Amino acid sequence: MIDFHSHVLPGIDDGSDSVSTSLTMLEMWREQGIPRVCATPHFVAERTTPARFLQKRDEAFNELRAAAGDGGPELLLGAEVRFFDGISAADELPMLCLEGTQLLLIEMPFTRWTERMLGEITEICRRGLIPVAAHLERYLSFNPKKIIRRFMDMDILIQCNAEFFLERRTERKALALMREGRIHFLGSDAHNLTSRAPNLGPALALIEKKLGREAVERLLRVEEKAGFGRESVPQ
Ligand SMILES: [Fe+2]
Repeated sequence: MIDFHSHVLPGIDDGSDSVSTSLTMLEMWREQGIPRVCATPHFVAERTTPARFLQKRDEAFNELRAAAGDGGPELLLGAEVRFFDGISAADELPMLCLEGTQLLLIEMPFTRWTERMLGEITEICRRGLIPVAAHLERYLSFNPKKIIRRFMDMDILIQCNAEFFLERRTERKALALMREGRIHFLGSDAHNLTSRAPNLGPALALIEKKLGREAVERLLRVEEKAGFGRESVPQ
């Protein structure tokens, strides 16, 4: 199973503050049996350029890899791209996709979404890219159900955070969406070792307990379809 969303790379955004923190985060994933983790630092177009972002990301990745050695989990490089006006026309979008894929993790605005915003997502799909909506659960309170449903019916994939399942007040909603097959990827969105630590393992255990092994298998099939392969099946 892949952790699709994390801020594990050191010193690049508000995630891990040091190589040592990142190493402990990797250890936590290992203990939870998570073989692959997407490193998705924030990309904010107003603050940096894609070229500068990618350079900083590579530096952080190389530093971490040198310190981590060969032990797992495997890191895949991506970005959490903050929505901005004109995003659909940005030439560099393919460079910000998760490595080896057309999957683009997008952080939607924390406001009520407009037609123009939804139109930009449609345009990104037209370019042949596959938007993945980061932590959909965080937008449920900003938008009427009708808008959320329309959004989910677009040619996009949905990522939800582990905490959506692990928090008592949202567990039922999370399981309902999972049961409906609306959630395609899970992420810890891990930033640190405390308040936002790697927690995909406990979420997967809860999903399997409440919905059965088939729910986990379905997530693995989505990964396979996206080109990640079965070697990510947890042992
Ligand atoms: Fe994030």
